[in-house]
Amino acid sequence: MIFDNHNRPITYLRLAVTDRCNLRCFYCMPEEGIKYLPKNQLLTYEEMERLVRVLARLGVSKIRITGGEPFVRNGLIDFLWRLKATEGVEELHITTNGVLTEPLVPELVRMGIGSVNLSIDTLDRERFRQITRRDELPAVLGTLDALLANDIPVKLNAVVMEGKNSEDLPLLAELTRAHPVEVRFIEEMPFNGEGSHYPVLNWTHRRILQELQLLYPGLKRQTDSPFSTAATYRIPGYRGTIGIIAAFTRTFCGTCNRIRLTAQGTLKTCLYDNGVLDVRALLRSGATDAELTAAFLKAFGHRPKNGFEAEHERGPVTESMSTIGG
Ligand code: 5AD
Ligand code: SF4
Repeated sequence: MIFDNHNRPITYLRLAVTDRCNLRCFYCMPEEGIKYLPKNQLLTYEEMERLVRVLARLGVSKIRITGGEPFVRNGLIDFLWRLKATEGVEELHITTNGVLTEPLVPELVRMGIGSVNLSIDTLDRERFRQITRRDELPAVLGTLDALLANDIPVKLNAVVMEGKNSEDLPLLAELTRAHPVEVRFIEEMPFNGEGSHYPVLNWTHRRILQELQLLYPGLKRQTDSPFSTAATYRIPGYRGTIGIIAAFTRTFCGTCNRIRLTAQGTLKTCLYDNGVLDVRALLRSGATDAELTAAFLKAFGHRPKNGFEAEHERGPVTESMSTIGG
């Protein structure tokens, strides 16, 4: 296993396979005018497979596929099968908006997907349309039903936004009554292509917790899994759990085991850094596996200690989450 310069193991890769998306979530992208990458600037599946092989040899055993929306890229299912068969890859997970996912659920079951994270910020069709600028809630709910029916572990991501869906907290939390899901309330970050929406963030992890405690005085803290970014809670008697993710307040950097590859093949060793290695350029200049390994190791040896240090080194973040992969 590889440890970084702050003695954190690097075991988890978040791999963005596209920057394209069929939704336009308020917290992720502007409604119009986004420029997608030309195809030749995306890593090919072959290139990604090779990078995963190299990283798996270094001890990366868990992979999460993200985007953009992963399922808008052609050929994804075949790629997932190949990743699953890669030596050293023990867990394969995917984050999706669920618009195109429902018919693919049986295939995900067959390949042994570890879990699916589904973005769902509200259960109200009109508010969903306002947040995502598309009327796709029914398709997303269809995917949720299919995942539950197939016993795939599910996490539901809800970014909490002032005046947009803060009133949805109770209904989303209630999903954990009957279903063994984790509903995760996430602080909004300024990764939306434009920059911060607010002078100060009102819906911090503390505020989210207070609100939940008001609704559910019996709310019980759970033991978080190691390296988890979520603080987890359970409403007594409910089957599922509730997670709160301090994505903006960044309380969890001390145990961060994750690295990211953007759709264009930039390595990020922190969500808040500006990209620390152009892996695509290395690959396309004919680098050997040994050269790739050396470049990765060098980057892992220079990780910022937390998201504040990373941000300080680059200035305010504005890029869209769709290019980073969350
Ligand atoms: N702030 C917080 N979370 C975000 N996500 C995307 N953009 C942001 C943002 N600006 C999360 C959403 C989505 C996942 C892919 O990334 O929860 O489910
Ligand atoms: Fe698409 Fe996810 Fe961004 Fe929404 S948050 S626009 S679903 S990539």
